[in-house]
Amino acid sequence: MLLTQQGTTSRRELAWTRWVLQSARTWEDVVGIVRKIGIHAVDEDHRKFTQFALDLNLIIQALSNRDTSFDNLHRGDEIFRQLLDYAHIHFQREERIMRSMKSPMLHRHLEQHGAFMGMIEEHYENFKLGRLQMVSGLKLSILDWWVNHINVVDYKTFVLGKTKNMKLGE
Ligand SMILES: [Fe+2]
Ligand SMILES: [Fe+2]
Repeated sequence: MLLTQQGTTSRRELAWTRWVLQSARTWEDVVGIVRKIGIHAVDEDHRKFTQFALDLNLIIQALSNRDTSFDNLHRGDEIFRQLLDYAHIHFQREERIMRSMKSPMLHRHLEQHGAFMGMIEEHYENFKLGRLQMVSGLKLSILDWWVNHINVVDYKTFVLGKTKNMKLGE
């Protein structure tokens, strides 16, 4: 499920974002298109998870080129587990902040997090079952979803919806 950006973002910007995501290899390549949220721990999570998603894309690329070496399969498995663990930690952090600020976005926001976890788990299941053609067809979906979620939903919740009583932390 790809979330599209809303509001003032032009078609040209979207095309640019997509091109950057498709060709990126490291965080430095995408830092210009990922919005800052202004909460240190959240921005750090965004950076780390983005790098995991980029690493996964490289592995998927290698597997699509039929480089199904043990190393790539092992590394792919490891990255999927890191993605799941890290998404869980990050989503719990955002939930705590949203509750502390009594965010009106809470319910919708958590629904999206749940859907994303389901999507990663499904990709992981396919990967473990050796359905590499299904995984390779989804090369950008995790990264796309993630960056769009930061730029639209996280931004709306934590930047536009900023309140004085939000606990920024741990
Ligand atoms: Fe986030
Ligand atoms: Fe979020």
